[in-house]
Amino acid sequence: MPSRKVIAVVGATGAQGGGLVRAILNDKSGEFAARAITRDVNSRKAKQLADAGAEVVAANVDDVESLKRAFAGAYGAFCVTFFWDHFSPEREMAEAKNMAAAAKHAGVQHVIWSTLEDTRKWVPLDDNRMPTLKEKYKVPHFDGKGEANKTFVDAGVPVTLLHTSFYWDNFIYFGAGPKPGPDGVLALTLPMGDKRLPGIAAEDIGKCALGIFKAGHEYVGKSIGIAGEHLTGAQLAAGLSRALGREVRYNEVSPEVYRSFGFPGADDMGNMFQFKRDFETAYVGARSIELSRRLNPELQTFERWLDANGNKIPIEGA
Ligand SMILES: NC(=O)c1ccc[n+]([C@@H]2O[C@H](COP(=O)([O-])OP(=O)(O)OC[C@H]3O[C@@H](n4cnc5c(N)ncnc54)[C@H](OP(=O)(O)O)[C@@H]3O)[C@@H](O)[C@H]2O)c1
Repeated sequence: MPSRKVIAVVGATGAQGGGLVRAILNDKSGEFAARAITRDVNSRKAKQLADAGAEVVAANVDDVESLKRAFAGAYGAFCVTFFWDHFSPEREMAEAKNMAAAAKHAGVQHVIWSTLEDTRKWVPLDDNRMPTLKEKYKVPHFDGKGEANKTFVDAGVPVTLLHTSFYWDNFIYFGAGPKPGPDGVLALTLPMGDKRLPGIAAEDIGKCALGIFKAGHEYVGKSIGIAGEHLTGAQLAAGLSRALGREVRYNEVSPEVYRSFGFPGADDMGNMFQFKRDFETAYVGARSIELSRRLNPELQTFERWLDANGNKIPIEGA
């Protein structure tokens, strides 16, 4: 068999990159091999990937030389940043610059940049419908990624801009699941009004990314978006009720109230949901379920994701 083309995967021990590594490894007769990038090749998760057949290499997205070594000889690279580790869009942009430079240096033929919208194109900084955060942003964890799109284009690397969606896994790991209200009934609190929230099983992002690499040049130079389903708060609550076997109410709040919740990043998340609510047509329209399913025929619906994961959603007092 001819030697397989290497895909270097940033964030390989995490949600997006991990999904891609597993998708490549599960594609037994496929044309790609997985190179998993981690800061610690000796961690439990890194060892699991090595045991499953991935090449595991060390690099840090803050260190361009380490990325050049990690991308050397690779056909493709999956690039992602980790906003919630540091809350800095500037750092994400610097890391994107490092990844773009390393990809150019290594002659990588196809980069996927996991990005999100620069919301300032819809809500300029002087638009007071939502507060400006960190002086320069409306939705910091979106805007830095969107601003960094240009970095890859300017570096001259063949890039697909992959716009991801809200992970349903946030109901398990990000504290976004239903919580009991004063009456004891579970409530899913979101400032989305009656608008649809594009969502996806985190594991499906990597599977879609593999579909993009498999399509060869088709998506190089393109901007695409993926989602498993576009569901309203009421529909999400109904799905959760069924899966948990007890009532979950959609607790619609205003973005102002959401921003005031006080957890780290509540203002960023409040602005994010407001952006998705107020620009529903553009935001949903940029994330095609049909394209996502073409890239990844195993794409999960919310119901299927709940069947497999509903029992992992932590419920206070349960
Ligand atoms: N949650 C959502 O709904 C959602 C939706 C869309 C987009 N996003 C975006 O997704 C991004 C995070 O991706 P994810 O969820 O896949 O991350 P994740 O699951 O938190 O995984 C991050 C992995 O990246 C590695 N990492 C962290 N810092 C690194 C560094 N400096 N250099 C190299 N590797 C590093 C870590 O691995 P090691 O410890 O092994 O190095 C870690 O396992 C965020 O920027 C977020 O804004 C999230």
